[in-house]
Amino acid sequence: MAKIPEEVIETVRTATNIADVVGQYVQLKKSGKNLFGLCPFHEEKTPSFSVTEDKQIFHCFSCGRGGNVFKFLMELEHISFPEAVVKVADFSHVDLDSEYRQDASTPATNSKTGQLIDLHEQAAKLYHHILVNTEGGQAALDYLHDRGLTDETIETYQLGFAPAQRLLKPFFDQRQADYQLLRQSGLFIENQQGDLRDRFIDRVMFPLRNASGHVVAFSGRVLKPTEDQPKYLNSPETTLFAKSRLLFNFDLARPAIREAGEVTLFEGYMDVISATQAGVRNGIASMGTSLTTEQIYAIERTTDTLNVCYDGDTPGQRAIERAIGLLREHSHLNLSVIQLPEGQDPDEYRRAHGDEAFRQVMESAKETPIRFQLRYLRRDRSLETDSEQLAYLNDAMPLLAQVKEPVALDMYLGQLATEFQLDKAALVAQLKQVRQSSAAVKERERHQRQPVGPPPPEVPDESGTVLVQQQRRPLNKLERAERQLLYQLLHDRNVWAKIESVPNFSFVHDDYQMIYTLAQGYFQTHQVYQSAQFTDFIQDERLQQLVIELETTISLAAVTPREIEDYLSVIMDQAPLEAKLRDKKRALAEASRLGDADQQRQLVIEIVQLEQQRQANKQV
Ligand code: UTP
Ligand code: MN
Repeated sequence: MAKIPEEVIETVRTATNIADVVGQYVQLKKSGKNLFGLCPFHEEKTPSFSVTEDKQIFHCFSCGRGGNVFKFLMELEHISFPEAVVKVADFSHVDLDSEYRQDASTPATNSKTGQLIDLHEQAAKLYHHILVNTEGGQAALDYLHDRGLTDETIETYQLGFAPAQRLLKPFFDQRQADYQLLRQSGLFIENQQGDLRDRFIDRVMFPLRNASGHVVAFSGRVLKPTEDQPKYLNSPETTLFAKSRLLFNFDLARPAIREAGEVTLFEGYMDVISATQAGVRNGIASMGTSLTTEQIYAIERTTDTLNVCYDGDTPGQRAIERAIGLLREHSHLNLSVIQLPEGQDPDEYRRAHGDEAFRQVMESAKETPIRFQLRYLRRDRSLETDSEQLAYLNDAMPLLAQVKEPVALDMYLGQLATEFQLDKAALVAQLKQVRQSSAAVKERERHQRQPVGPPPPEVPDESGTVLVQQQRRPLNKLERAERQLLYQLLHDRNVWAKIESVPNFSFVHDDYQMIYTLAQGYFQTHQVYQSAQFTDFIQDERLQQLVIELETTISLAAVTPREIEDYLSVIMDQAPLEAKLRDKKRALAEASRLGDADQQRQLVIEIVQLEQQRQANKQV
């Protein structure tokens, strides 16, 4: 494997805008100088993830993760540095020598995850081969063709077939696959003796890919549904596959979602596949379970508009109602409902009416969630008697109370007034009452809510290590000075020259000193400081984070030489004290190791005195 030279990495970096790469995964909005979005590394409701374009770095103020474009992909997709460079190069259309590509293109097969993925991708290939090239797969292939799928679609989704005679176990035995790995893959069922047998037999196989496009599980559909077994059988939960996280087709749909500015959520895999074939490529599906908050957050990071297109039957409608509730509660997504006529599911609709009609209905059947809910409320009601009508209107009011746009509200009220031959003013009056009482409930809830917990305790820094501010602890005067000076050192060659001329200068905290030392090395080979490049140079994860934190929290407003002097003197004044304190603490550890009680007592007294002195100097 060839190491990628720094010039090449540099070429890739300069050809790329980090905002474009991050934008594939996170919806970014401009705010001041920075772009902000929901952090892809943890769940959150308010954006604390930022991208600074002029520095080409990202940073999350909440979880503390940060770095350059390579780091972003490494963390998000769990890939190595060379793999990230290759990925970014492809994104920016930079030609790379194949020698760098080779070792990056195979997923990190030395890791457990990599091996499990590899196993799944081999299984997918085998099942696909059986479907398209063998006698044994013919019936399944006919079935898929009968369902209107083209060979191209079958290829795109790598659909396959697991025949009745178990093939997967012998296939992997021949390749001498590791027994433990096979056990953990979920592809087999284990008996009491620990023997493994294929889990999927006589089923059409749908590979389930994660957000990076790797196969992590399967769903198998029986050719002819019977009472005694599930229509779709999914892989069990494994280290690779969490049902609550995965969204079917999310990897393939992402470019189309960005392009259309919206995503369409379907109920079944077949609906998604069918829609793709009709040219509606922004479709995804959850795993047959109701939507989870993790899935909602993943969607919200990518777009702000979602269409729910579930089956037109009664369970489908109930599922839409539930999904709207969840989405309203857990997201700010703009929602639409696409309900298909005649109780059909999307796949049936496409087959009955063709691709063109399918594409059209996806637009023309779009309605607001309120309109859908008003209709949903009427199911099983005859609305013939006064009391039925009143009950319906009563139930409709809380829905209407949620409508914020005056024009839309007026329209719904007008329609109800006409239909039930009522005075619109009466509806408006009743709505007002509903709004008032729900506001009163909210207000009560607000008062009952618990106050937020105390801030996290301050982290002691005896070893001279500073912690990256995962939990924002207040910085004392010394650390503030160190951070400011370090930042100015990196960015301003005049400050650098000045500090170089101070005899015996050293930062008090080891981490800042380390970064300073690394910067001395960096400037041997680099003329100009670039934070996105410097973080690669540093390599140490924690120090990288620290630099990113400096870059995003300190601004390069012009500092006067006087300010630099001040920072310097704060550091120089404190340095001997800190050094002494550290020495004493080391001596104390040594004394207690040796069991020297007198020495320990003496040292404790000295340490307490030094600590008091330090406290007095601090003035946070
Ligand atoms: P559907 O039964 O609506 O699937 O279930 P479908 O896509 O219309 O299937 P076809 O058209 O008959 O082939 C919707 C989803 O529910 C999950 C699957 O994710 C399916 O795509 N499901 C359904 C299961 O997990 N197990 C089942 O037994 C049935
Ligand atoms: Mn269906």
